[in-house]
Amino acid sequence: MIRVLVIDDEEPMRRLLRKELTRKGFSVEVASDGQAGLDILKNTIFDVILLDIVMPGMDGIEVMKKLRRDPASPVILVLTGKATVETAVDAMKNGAYDYLTKPYKLDELAIVINRAYEYGRLSIKNQLLQQELVRIESPFEFICDSQPMKEILGLIRKTAPTDSPVLIQGESGTGKELIANTIWHHSKRGTSPFIALNCATLSENLIESEIFGHEKGSFTSAYQTKHGIVEVADKGTLFLDEIGEMPLGLQPKLLRFLDSGEFRRVGSNRTFKVDVRVLAATNRDLLALVRAGSFREDLYYRLNVIAITIPPLRERREDVPALAGYFLKKYSRKLSKDIKGISLEAGDVLNAYPWPGNVRELENVMERAVILCDSRSILPADLSIAGAGLTAASKEQPSLEEMERDYILKVLKQAGGNQSKASQMLGIDRKTLYHKLKKYGIH
Ligand SMILES: Nc1ncnc2c1ncn2[C@@H]1O[C@H](COP(=O)(O)OP(=O)(O)OP(=O)(O)O)[C@@H](O)[C@H]1O
Ligand SMILES: [Mg+2]
Repeated sequence: MIRVLVIDDEEPMRRLLRKELTRKGFSVEVASDGQAGLDILKNTIFDVILLDIVMPGMDGIEVMKKLRRDPASPVILVLTGKATVETAVDAMKNGAYDYLTKPYKLDELAIVINRAYEYGRLSIKNQLLQQELVRIESPFEFICDSQPMKEILGLIRKTAPTDSPVLIQGESGTGKELIANTIWHHSKRGTSPFIALNCATLSENLIESEIFGHEKGSFTSAYQTKHGIVEVADKGTLFLDEIGEMPLGLQPKLLRFLDSGEFRRVGSNRTFKVDVRVLAATNRDLLALVRAGSFREDLYYRLNVIAITIPPLRERREDVPALAGYFLKKYSRKLSKDIKGISLEAGDVLNAYPWPGNVRELENVMERAVILCDSRSILPADLSIAGAGLTAASKEQPSLEEMERDYILKVLKQAGGNQSKASQMLGIDRKTLYHKLKKYGIH
C-alpha cells in the first residue's frame, strides 16, 4: 500500500484528501503545517508527501529544504492554490517531483501519486539509486564453464525466488558481488532496488546509523533525522558486503532485523518495519570469527541457511579460457580494438598462472593486455603477470607500490590481523586501508 502524508493548513482540504485517497486504496495521514509534518515524518515511513506551499508557520519550501539532504526522504508532490511560475520553479529546485495546481481532479491526483511512488522506487535522485540504474543498464554476464560454478548457478536459480538471506563466501575477486547481483536479477524483487553497503569501509559508529538511520540530535552531528539504508531498500534487496566486519554490538540488531524486518533508528525507541531481502558476503572465514568470538553464532546460523561458497579460480581452471575470452571481448569493444583472440602461448600462460587475485585479477590482466596488444591476437608479452610480460628492469628494483605493500603486510602482522589497529598504526583511516588491501590483494 502506498503511504501518503498530506501536509496542508486547510482543514476541509485535509479531510477531503484523506477520505478520497483512502477510498482509492492509499494509506493516508495528515498534518496541519510544516512542523507537524516533520514531526510525523520522524516516526513513520511514507512514500509520497502531498505538500501545500503556502502555510502559516513553516511553509512548504522550508519543509523541502529540511528534507533535501536525506536520500531516503519520500517523493514530494507540491499542491498549490496560487501556482505562479516562481513558486513552481522554486519547488522543483528544492527537490519536488512535480506540482499540481488547485483545483485538481482526484483521478489525476491518484495517477500522479502512483507515478511519484514509482519514481521514488526507481529514483535517480540520489547516488545510491544511481548505482542501481547502472546495474540495470549494464547487463552482467555470469560465466560458468566449470562444474562447481554450474552447480552454483543452479543454486542461484533455486534460491533467487525465495526471500531467505543468502551468505556468499569466497576469496577476494571470486565474484561474490556478481553472484549477489545475479540472485537479485533472478528474484521477484528484480525491479526493486538493489542496494549494496560495504561494512568494511564505514567507521564503527557510522555503520549503525547508515543501516538503520538516526533521529535528530541522537549524536552531535545528527542535525536532522536520517533514513537508514534499510528504508531505502524497502521492498528490495540489501547486499551487506564484508559482513565479517560488522561490529559485534550491532549484530543482535541485525539478527532481529533478519527475523522480523523490524528495526529502530539510532536515538529512537520507536520500531519500524520494512520488507527487505538481505544478501551477505565475506572473504573471511566466518566460522573462525565465530570461534574467535568476534561474530555471533546465532547470526552466523541465521545467515548461513543458504550458503554459496565460490571456489578460488585456481580450483576451477576450466573457467579461465571462457572468462579470458569474455573479458577480451568486453575490453576490445570498450577500447575499440580489433583483437581476434588469444594466442596458444598466451593461453598457456593464463592456464598455468595461480590467480591469487582470482577473477578480478584475470579481468585486470585482460584489460591491460587489450591496451598493450598491437597485433591480431594477445601474445604472452601483453600479459602483465609474473614470468610472462614483466620486463627485467621492473623486477630488479622494488617499485614504490611493492614497498608499500610489504610495509602494510608487516604492520598488519604486528596488529595481529586487526584492520582497525593496523590503520591506526599506519596513520590512515580504515577505508583507505581497506582499499589498499584490496589493491594489493592482501587477505
Ligand atoms: N563468473 C563470472 N563471470 C563474469 N565475470 C565475473 C565472474 N566472476 C567474477 N567476475 C568479474 O570479476 C570482477 C570481480 O568480481 P566481484 O567484484 O563480484 O568479486 P568479489 O568476490 O565481490 O571481490 P571482493 O571480495 O574483492 O569484493 C567483477 O568485475 C566481476 O564482474
Ligand atoms: Mg565484493
